[in-house]
Amino acid sequence: MFKGRILSGMRPTGSLHIGHLSVLENWVKLQEEYECFFTIVDWHALTTSFNETESIPGNIHEMALDWLSVGIDPEKSCIFVQSHVKQHAELHLLFSMITPVSWLERCPTYKDQIQQLSKEGKDIATYGFLGYPLLQAADILVYKANTVPVGEDQLPHVEFCREVARRFNHLYKSDVFPEPKAIMAKISMLPGLDKRKMSKSYNNYIAINESKDGLLEKVKQMVTDPSRIHKTDPGNPDVCVVNTYHKIYTTDEAADIQESCKQGTIGCVACKKKLAQQMEAALAPYRDKREYYAQRPELIKEILHDGKKMAEARAEATMQEVRVSMHL
Ligand code: TRP
Ligand code: SF4
Repeated sequence: MFKGRILSGMRPTGSLHIGHLSVLENWVKLQEEYECFFTIVDWHALTTSFNETESIPGNIHEMALDWLSVGIDPEKSCIFVQSHVKQHAELHLLFSMITPVSWLERCPTYKDQIQQLSKEGKDIATYGFLGYPLLQAADILVYKANTVPVGEDQLPHVEFCREVARRFNHLYKSDVFPEPKAIMAKISMLPGLDKRKMSKSYNNYIAINESKDGLLEKVKQMVTDPSRIHKTDPGNPDVCVVNTYHKIYTTDEAADIQESCKQGTIGCVACKKKLAQQMEAALAPYRDKREYYAQRPELIKEILHDGKKMAEARAEATMQEVRVSMHL
């Protein structure tokens, strides 16, 4: 019946922006076909933000709200917080004994991120930061997940996870772990309002739970064709952020709008208004559902608690096999 078992996770960064929607909407589809474990990886947040932990509980709550609001369904998927399931830490420790440091040092994300972070004034040379792909491998393998939906940037981590699984099985003459495969979602790259990459730190994003007025305000800020001054000037939609969004949110009329822009028969104000309406129609159902859960913090607690119980049972079953294989 099921195609397999999935594990995926996100760091608790607080409420999500619409750039994350394609990933989440893919999860919503996958939960119909796979047994899914979706985890908010708070220990991973510590690898880069160990000195600012006070925002973590709030960020976990916001992220859970976003997941539920877009349709991650606790009746179908196991939703939980990583640190609630201590088996991740035990498996990470045991894996750390068998993993050569060189495997971690050659992980392409390692040097890139160290460089990136040092530009931002953060100097991260901790043991935990070096080891985070191994923690990720433990996240996946403690459930014996065989499928991991990830973005392209995470592919080396899944490959690394396969190597760890292989090494464990070989060393302890066991077949405890499957070698999970990555599946890549078709990720639509939405630019930020100013055309740069959408990011919270650039403050050029649209939140999934943006209000109706907020949405209109943000669409107004979108960068259009700068050479278009009067609304009858012919425009070039290819250089316009609004047009990129129309292609996603106004699919059936996007071609007509482009044509009108080129002809100079639609003004940017009207064009933006149309987009804001389309986006409002797409996002309003998510916002309503979010509101439902936001009013019920006890329900969120219960969902995460049930998720923890289910995840823990699965993870403990794996750990028992691991301990036997290692004579522990
Ligand atoms: N490292 C991932 C990221 O930064 C998050 C993550 C942690 C994850 N554990 C995972 C993703 C397990 C997939 C599977 O985005
Ligand atoms: Fe962009 Fe629309 Fe203005 Fe053309 S009419 S430049 S697509 S906002």
